[in-house]
This record gives sequence, C-alpha cells and structure tokens, in this order.
Amino acid sequence: MRLFKQLVGVFAVAGLLIGVLAIFAFDVIKIDWVVFMEIQPSFGTQEDPLPVPARSIPVEGPVYIPGAGAPANPVLADEVSLARGAQLFTIHCQMCHGVNGQGTGPIAAFLIQKKPADLTVDLVQNKDDGTLFLTVSNGFGLMPALNENLTVRERWDVVNFVRTLKAAGQ
Ligand code: HEC
Repeated sequence: MRLFKQLVGVFAVAGLLIGVLAIFAFDVIKIDWVVFMEIQPSFGTQEDPLPVPARSIPVEGPVYIPGAGAPANPVLADEVSLARGAQLFTIHCQMCHGVNGQGTGPIAAFLIQKKPADLTVDLVQNKDDGTLFLTVSNGFGLMPALNENLTVRERWDVVNFVRTLKAAGQ
C-alpha cells in the first residue's frame, strides 16, 4: 500500500511538471523568447522576388546590369524563335493579354485596378526590345515579374513574338 501511495505521488508530480511544460510548449501562455531566426533577409509568401544584388551576374548571363540601360536583343526573330515565342505567350501571357495581345484574356475581367495592356498599340510597340524584355523580367506596374517563369532566352522569344502582334492587331 505504501508503494502504491508513493507511485501515485511520483506520477502526480511528474504529471504536474509535464502539464506546466505543455502550457508553454503549446503556447497556452506565450512567452516572447529572444530568438534571432527572424532577424535575417527572408521574404514572405508571394512577395516579389528579391532584386539581383548589385554587380552580380546571373548564371544565365548578363541579363540586365544595373545602370547599363535596357539590354539589346541577342535573339534573331527567326522562325524558331517566333514559334517558341508564340507557344510561350500562350502559356504565360495569354490569360491576361488575350490571344491577339489586345488585353482581353479570360482573367482580364477580374483585374479591377488595372487592365492588362493592349500590346498591339504604338505605345507598347514603339518601345525597344530591351524595354519589353525588362517589363517581362521585372514586371510593370501591376503586372507581375515573370523572371522566375521564363528563362532569359524564352523572354527574348516572347518579345520577338510580341512584335508580330502589331500587324495582327491592326
Ligand atoms: C497576371 C496578368 C498578366 C500576365 C500573366 C502578363 N501580363 Fe503583361 N500586363 C498586365 C497588366 C495588368 C499590365 C498593365 C500594368 C500597369 O499598367 O500597371 C501589363 C502590362 C504589360 C506591358 C507593358 C505595356 C506598356 O505600357 O509598356 C507589356 C509589354 C506586357 N504586359 C507584356 C506581357 C508579356 C510579354 C507577358 C507574358 C510573358 C505578360 N505581359 C504577362 C498583366 C499581365
């Protein structure tokens, strides 16, 4: 009987200790411990990609060197490039900018603040290839940056294809 009482005592004390620990472990009572994990250059969900650090060159080659202006188009608008561009446009741009680039894609109706630009108009077509390339790479106003969706080569293919929309739209 004595042993039984002692066991009950031990379990009661252990239970109490675990209970008290659980209160803190499960944040029933939240103590703001000093931690340093949060003090780091992290970024939240759906935040824009971090800009390329100054003086760095991505593995895909010098896409855009800060201060050097818009890059020149290194990809000839040949048959292959245009065919690829057309395909990529369908995948990455058409839902907003529409089949003919006139800004009437299926989700354009849901974009309340700003409608996708009409890519056939002179305002867009008069911009040089490098500027369009940077628009796709870094985003433009409310258009998201697509540099993580398209490789450098793919972006130039899309730019070459966007050029063909001028004739198609007019
Ligand atoms: C999520 C929808 C969306 C997608 C996807 C998208 N765009 Fe856009 N785009 C927009 C919106 C919205 C604007 C207008 C932004 C503003 O004016 O604030 C815009 C603007 C532009 C402009 C700028 C026109 C100007 O005035 O200079 C270009 C060029 C462009 N888009 C090309 C593309 C290309 C090429 C793709 C595919 C690689 C693409 N966009 C994908 C929504 C989108």
